[in-house]
Parts: sequence; C-alpha cells; structure tokens
Amino acid sequence: MSEIKNIAVLTSGGDAPGMNAAIRAVVRAGIYYDLTVTGVLRGYEGLISGDFIDMDRKSVANIIQRGGTILKTARSDQFRTTEGRKIAYEQLKNKGIDALIVIGGDGTFTGANLFSKEFDFPVVGLPGTIDNDLAGTDFTIGYDTAINTVVNAIDQIRDTAESHDRLFIVEVMGRDSGLIALRSGIGVGAEAIMVPEANMGVAGLVKRLEYGRKDKASKIIIVAEGDEVGGAFNVGEVLKDKFPHYDIRVSVLGHIQRGGKPSCMDRVLASRFGVSAVEALLNGHSGEMVGQINGEIAYTPFDHAIKHLDAEEGTQAWLKLIEILSL
Ligand code: F6P
Repeated sequence: MSEIKNIAVLTSGGDAPGMNAAIRAVVRAGIYYDLTVTGVLRGYEGLISGDFIDMDRKSVANIIQRGGTILKTARSDQFRTTEGRKIAYEQLKNKGIDALIVIGGDGTFTGANLFSKEFDFPVVGLPGTIDNDLAGTDFTIGYDTAINTVVNAIDQIRDTAESHDRLFIVEVMGRDSGLIALRSGIGVGAEAIMVPEANMGVAGLVKRLEYGRKDKASKIIIVAEGDEVGGAFNVGEVLKDKFPHYDIRVSVLGHIQRGGKPSCMDRVLASRFGVSAVEALLNGHSGEMVGQINGEIAYTPFDHAIKHLDAEEGTQAWLKLIEILSL
C-alpha cells in the first residue's frame, strides 16, 4: 500500500499546448485513486510562495481543448537556489503534500531532480515543451501542435512566395534543438533547413542554393532559432548580397508556435502521461520523467532526460531526407 495520499501538480517553464489536458488527467487519476490533488500556481514560484489551490473533478472540466495552462507557469530563479528549494519543501510539508508532479521541460526537470534528491521527496515529471528536446520520450506534449502550427503558417507564406516568386526565410523556435525546424521543414517541402545539430552555416546554404534547381519560382528556407547563424534576419542580409536577383523576405514565427488548441495527438499523449504519472508515484517511482518510447510508457531518470541525447539521434538522417526531397 502506498503512503501517498496527497499530491500536488504544477506547470513550469514555457507553456505548451496539451498542458491543460495533462493537468486534467493528473487530477482525475488522483481522484480515481482516492488521493487529494492540489494545484500549484505559477510553477516553482507558487511552490515557494505557497500559492496552492484545491483541485476537484470539476476544476478541470472543459479544459482538455484549451492551449496554455490554467495553473499558469513561470521560470523561477529562486528555485535554482538551495534556500528557495528549502522554502518550497516547507510549504509542501505544511500543506501535508506527500508527492509532486511537475509538467515542463529541461529547466523544470533540473530543478525537480535537485529537489527530490535534497529532500528525499517523491517527484515525477511529464514532458511538456514544444521543443521535443528531451531524451526518454519520442514526443513531448505540445510538439505535435507546434509543428502543425508552423506547417499551417508556412503553407500560407508559400502562397505569397509562389505568387511573387520570392524566397522566404522563416525562423522557428526550439531553443538549442532543431527538431521543430526539421519535422515542419519536411512537412512544408522546404528547400533548406538550418539547425544547430548540423550548423551548415550561410556558406553551406549559399552552396545549396547555387547548386539547387534554378527553375523553382519560390523557395522556403527554415532557420531554427538555435542555429549558429544567429537568426533569420542575419541569413537574409547575406543572401541579399549573394543573390541580388532574389526577392527575399524574412518571417519570424515567434510565440504563435506556443499557443492554440492542442492537437488530438497532444491531448491523448498528455492524458496518457498524466494517468501514468499518478500511477508511477503510487508504485514508488521518483526522480523520473514519464515518456513514450515506441508506443510504450517508459520512465527515465531526470538527469538522463535533460541530456537531449536520444532526441538528437538521427538528425543526419533527417537532413539527408531533406536533401533528397528538395531536388
Ligand atoms: O522552450 C520553449 C520555447 O518556446 C523555446 O522554443 C524558446 O527558445 C523559448 O521557449 C522562448 O522562451 P520565452 O517565451 O521565455 O521567450
């Protein structure tokens, strides 16, 4: 029999579509297993200030389809300090909470890892980030929605690119990962994709354009924000000099990639992860992230999950695919 009777849930770091579906699943699974569930507002900031709300079945009604997070989120500097984490621990103890579920990305898990070790406190994580940059899961919650948002946006840009015979350089998010750029780039038939895992450089891009097909009316180049070229505008400046005959435009998609209704895939992933996280705590797991590998639920220690390694495997194969498909 598990000792855990009261659990808390929070979202932290950048919001991601599907976080609400994950909160809903945690709350409903908690109630199903006779636990009390507390929501923590604004991530680790709320943990430190004791900003807690009681969650019941109804408090998560009608949220599965909503983007953002009803619990709100923040990036907490205070939780990076030992003192901050100690206050958070005391707040949880005062409220009688036995275990914590955190939904977020690598920053969230770095904090959770330290916290659970320092205070021997059970913590399980759910991968919630549009970047898909965590090892131990094929997909993070929010990634599918984000790449579909990018694909829809670039499809619209392609209409103008085609009509005006223009070259568009589109910058997408991903922090230091190129996975948003890679998958959405294949989805829109991009002519070139610049990602930090490969860093082809502007010289490499110029070569690609020089040797590429000349009869294409429009061109789409995707630049991941983490690529060492330093952003789409820099690429645009160099290309303007090299190819004065091209009509070049730059578009930075920005935070539209983080918002919006979660896709069905993200809702299902989040629902499955939420229930699995509660069950994991009851079965004695701690210091681990719930993920999905080849369709099966998997648990990965936080310090491995944040290393990105598995997530970056295969980048060269993606890049080859792009080279073949952009002929
Ligand atoms: O991690 C999600 C993400 O959207 C990254 O892709 C991006 O680099 C970062 O967050 C932007 O963060 P902020 O919204 O704090 O500017």
